[in-house]
Formats: sequence, structure tokens, C-alpha cells
Amino acid sequence: MKIICVNDYDDMSKKSADIVVSQIILNPESVLGLATGSTPIGMYKQLVKAYEDGHIDFEKITTFNLDEYFNIDKTNKQSYYYYMKKNLFEKVNINMENINIPNGMADNIDEECLEYEKKIRDKGGVDIQVLGIGRNGHIGFNEPDIKFEALTHMVKLDEQTIKDNSRFFDSIDEVPTTAISMGIKTIMRAKKIVLLASGKEKAECIYEAIYGNITPNLPASVLQLHPDVIFVIDKQAGSKL
Ligand code: GLP
Repeated sequence: MKIICVNDYDDMSKKSADIVVSQIILNPESVLGLATGSTPIGMYKQLVKAYEDGHIDFEKITTFNLDEYFNIDKTNKQSYYYYMKKNLFEKVNINMENINIPNGMADNIDEECLEYEKKIRDKGGVDIQVLGIGRNGHIGFNEPDIKFEALTHMVKLDEQTIKDNSRFFDSIDEVPTTAISMGIKTIMRAKKIVLLASGKEKAECIYEAIYGNITPNLPASVLQLHPDVIFVIDKQAGSKL
């Protein structure tokens, strides 16, 4: 595990974007695993800048997002599809046929999950997976007590997560209580993982993820077992290390 502790949110965004940019330069046909939430927004801005400056090209890039809320349509402004379009996809030359986000409106969720796993496998797996982290240590939407061997599946969101994510909705009652998420096993299969964290409210889970027991109670702790993982965190998120 490598830990890069930088000054602030801007530096975290630049440093993590550099890692993704170098992956794209080395392999313009890379498969990127992408995350949502407020943390990676600055990183996406940097990726857009790198594209506009002509350093990277998304034409042959494939993406797989970690998760999507259940029963929320693509056009809904709270959907992760909408988030990705707004923050990255509509700003770069990515081929929309190469982007993949779980379909929260699928009729048969089990089939959707199996199909999602198959698509990742058929593409040769994820080259670099970007992750944020929830205050309870969740990655993707893998909440505490998740089975480490889980693949893409339907998850029930924790009360803490519903509360944390309610800031993006008009009221807490509108926050979906379920979602489709890549499982821990799906995430751990990525060749490289970059986890981003910023702010003091992430200090505790970052400490536990790095130094705590490897336990499903803190899903991110499983990353201690991954052979190529980089934590890019700012001073506040790293303040308990
Ligand atoms: C959400 C997402 C995660 C994200 C996390 C942290 O619930 N499913 O992928 O990492 O919450 O979000 P934020 O970056 O806004 O703190």
C-alpha cells in the first residue's frame, strides 16, 4: 500500500488525476473504474483539463462505474449516470457506447448484476479503479458487514450513508434506500486502485482502513490485501495516521 498525503483538496485532485492520466497515456485503451460522490469532482475537473490541453484522449477508453441508486432513472439529476455525464462524459471525447453504469431501473436486477460482471470480464478487467470512502468505511456502496466475496449486487444503504447523501437531495425521504454496487471482490480484482479522501470527517475511517483490522465491519480495510493500492488523501483526512 502506498499513501500519498497532500496539503488540501486541490492537491488531492491533481495528484489522483495525474495517476489516472499516466494510466491513460500508457494505455489509451484502458478500462477505468469510476466513482461518484463529492470527493472525485475535482479529479474529474483535472481530467477534463488534461483532455482539453491535449494530454489524453478518451476515444478508446472504457469505463465502469462502481454503483447506481436503485429505481432512479438516468435523467434524474441525483442519478450517478447524470453525475458522470455532467462531470466527465459530456466534456471529453469518450464514446458513450463504452461507458457502463449499473442500470438501477433494470427489470431483473440479478440478471443486470451478472451481466455487469460479464461485461467487466469481457473487457479484460478494470485497469485502474478510483474509489472514494464513506464515513463508515464503505467503498462503492459496500456497507459494513458486507461479504468480502460479493460481486456486483443489490445493497441496502446504511442509515449513516442515507443521512450523508441526503445533502444531494431535497429531503432525506427522497434518498433511495437501495442501490446496485460492484462488490468487494469486483473492486479487489482491479489491477490498480486509487482511493481518494479529503476532510477531517474521513480521518477516522482512513485510519481504520490503513491500520485497523481487516474486517467487513470496515469494508475499505480489505484494501490492505490488494497488491497495488494508493491512498491519495489530504492532511485533514490523514490527521489520525
Ligand atoms: C457514496 C458513494 C461512494 C462514495 C461515498 C463518499 O455513497 N456510493 O462511492 O465514495 O459515498 O462520498 P463523498 O465523496 O461525497 O464523501
